[in-house]
Amino acid sequence: MRVAIIGQGYVGLTIAVGAAGAGHTVVGFDVNGGLVAQLNAGRSHIEGIRDSDLAGFIDAGSYLASSDPSVLDGYEVIVIAVPTPLDEDRNPDLSYVHEAADLISKNVKDTKLIINESTSYPGTLRGEIAAYITTSSVAHFYASSPERVDPGNEQWNVKNTPRLIGGLSPEAVVKAREFYSTFCDNIIEVSSPEVAEAAKIFENTFRQVNIALVNEFAQIADALGISGREVLNAAATKPYGFMPFNPGPGVGGHCIPVDPSYLAHVANEVGVPATFIKRANEVNLAMPAYVVKRVNAGSGGSVKGKKVVVVGVSYKSNVADTRETPAAAVIDLLREQGATVTWHDDLVGTWRGEFSSPIAGADIAVVVTKHDGVDLDAVKACGYVFDCTGHLAGVDGI
Ligand SMILES: NC(=O)c1ccc[n+]([C@@H]2O[C@H](COP(=O)([O-])OP(=O)(O)OC[C@H]3O[C@@H](n4cnc5c(N)ncnc54)[C@H](O)[C@@H]3O)[C@@H](O)[C@H]2O)c1
Repeated sequence: MRVAIIGQGYVGLTIAVGAAGAGHTVVGFDVNGGLVAQLNAGRSHIEGIRDSDLAGFIDAGSYLASSDPSVLDGYEVIVIAVPTPLDEDRNPDLSYVHEAADLISKNVKDTKLIINESTSYPGTLRGEIAAYITTSSVAHFYASSPERVDPGNEQWNVKNTPRLIGGLSPEAVVKAREFYSTFCDNIIEVSSPEVAEAAKIFENTFRQVNIALVNEFAQIADALGISGREVLNAAATKPYGFMPFNPGPGVGGHCIPVDPSYLAHVANEVGVPATFIKRANEVNLAMPAYVVKRVNAGSGGSVKGKKVVVVGVSYKSNVADTRETPAAAVIDLLREQGATVTWHDDLVGTWRGEFSSPIAGADIAVVVTKHDGVDLDAVKACGYVFDCTGHLAGVDGI
């Protein structure tokens, strides 16, 4: 098949490579001209996609990146994989989805299979994509297949992670299955796009709420003078009815801090309060302040005038993604309280106009995220260590 993918970020490029690997001819459309040039030079910007694989597909003529919207018309499957962030008031920002729909309206003349993989609330495919595009009077097939990719996860990938499909018509579902079955092992059809969309945001809400629960529990355990992590590990020995989650400095990335607010938004519209989501947001967003409070208390009462290195600033291990990372709030709070703060993360390298610095020489090390290969001896050599990750024995932490 000839497949166009709108958005070449974490999701779009992953699907592009999956589809090219299955023998499809893929164009990766992105408005970011710099990214398009980088991809066409065979350089991947995401973990898990090797430059050599990308270059191989380009050489074979099965992948090309483009920022020319007129290319979209030549492709029979169009996949939307654009950002779905929150606006300043933490409400859904569907402007990128609407831009993608506009691009299709203006550039696509014949009937296509249009699939949305961007995460959004139930009703998005029907009301925010199909409704936009039908103004161009072409009758497309529409399906929703929310992406579940977990960047950096070596066990679960686009091939072996079960994929949900819901369509606006039975024909759309048949066509979407035909496409995905070429590179996904397990496809599950649900009765409507709304069910697929809601399943995706419920999955991430489930994580958000459970992470908040263990974050709150970790604070209770610390106040009781017991190790929250030891309790959680002990609870996890129960072979049924318990699922382990780890406490930490907050939640980051494009999904867990964002997606539940999409559910809360529609819940509010239909008059049902999403109380768990609201409370989980509060708990998770307050974790950086809790970390800084503990660092102050554990390092002699005040960080003022001390040199602090924050180790690991991406939001999770072994990825360079800093979106919504709680490290930002930890650093800002430490600085507000008079500490001189540097950060160390060679995977991230450059962030917020600053560069990764050495660990050695700091009075205090705060480990926010632990990547493989980080020099833990250098961390332990700092005067005081606070570990948010549970990887360092014998130091203070969550
Ligand atoms: N990153 C993840 O782990 C993950 C996992 C599952 C689902 N998702 C969801 O997938 C969607 C995409 O996320 P992502 O992480 O790939 O985002 P991303 O920011 O990594 O990539 C999005 C890309 O879309 C491009 N873009 C923006 N507007 C565009 C437009 N109008 N036309 C063409 N390109 C455009 C951007 O330049 C960017 O390269 C979101 O809804 C997200 O919630 C992400």
